[in-house]
Amino acid sequence: MANRLAQLIQPDGHALFLPVDHGYFQGPTRKLEEPGKTIQPLLPFADGLFITRGALRSCVDPARTKPIILRVSGGTSMVGKDLANEGIITSMEEAIRLNASAVGISVFVGSEYEKESLLNLAKLVDEGERYGIPVMAVTAVGKELEKRDARYLALASRIAAELGARVVKTYWCEGFEKVTRGCHVPIVIAGGPQTDNERDVFNFIYDGMQKGAIGVNLGRNIWQNDYPVAMIKAVQAIIHKKADAEKAQEIFDHEKAKASSKS
Ligand code: 5RP
Repeated sequence: MANRLAQLIQPDGHALFLPVDHGYFQGPTRKLEEPGKTIQPLLPFADGLFITRGALRSCVDPARTKPIILRVSGGTSMVGKDLANEGIITSMEEAIRLNASAVGISVFVGSEYEKESLLNLAKLVDEGERYGIPVMAVTAVGKELEKRDARYLALASRIAAELGARVVKTYWCEGFEKVTRGCHVPIVIAGGPQTDNERDVFNFIYDGMQKGAIGVNLGRNIWQNDYPVAMIKAVQAIIHKKADAEKAQEIFDHEKAKASSKS
C-alpha cells in the first residue's frame, strides 16, 4: 500500500494526476476522441494517469511505466436516467493484472443512489486493503455543478475518508480549508468543465494547495486547452515547483508562444 501510494504521491508530498476517464459516461468527449493522441505529449508531466481499463488497453503502450489509477466505477451515461446509479465495472483481480497503482470510484452523496455508491466504495476498500491497492474516491456531483460548495464537499470528502478511501478527489471551492480540515486523507482537486481563462485555473489550484490540497486530478482544463502542454507545465510548476498563479501564467504564456511559433 505504501509503495503504491509513493508511486503516485511524489517525495515532496504532492501529486499531479491526469484524468482521461471521461469517456466512461460522456463518450468521445471533445479533445479526448482519441485518448492515445491526447495523452502522449502530456504523460511526461503527469505523476499518474486516471483511466478505464478499456482505454488503457487500447491507448497506452504497456512499455510505458506511468502509474495508473484505474477507474472502476461506471455503468451509466450522460443520456441515461441517473448518473449516480453506478456499479463496479472492473474487478480487483483485473486491477492487479493491469498493475494499477490505485483504483478510483465515484460516490454521489446526497443523490438517490447515495447508499449504493457509498457501499460500493466500502466494498472496494475492503478488496483494496486485502491486496494493498489504494482507493481514490471521487466526490461526484453529476450534473448538479452548483453542489460544489464547501459545506457539501466537506461532507462528501469526510464520508469518503471515513469509509476508507486513501485519497479523495474533490472540487475547489470558496473556503476550501473547511474541506481539507475535515478530511484526514490527502485531497486532490478536479477542474470540472473547461474554463476560458487559464488564470482562473492557476488561481484555484494555487489557493487549493495553500489550503491543504496535495495536488490535482485535472483533466479538461488541461487537455481541452488549445495549448495542453503549456497548460500542464504551468500546473506542474504550481504543484511541484512552488510557483504561484502569476508564475504559472508566465510559464503558460512562454510555452504557448513557443508552441505557436512552431506551428
Ligand atoms: C470524470 C472524473 C474526472 O476524473 C474528474 O472530474 C477530473 O476531471 P476534470 O478536471 O475534467 O473535471 O471523475 O469522470
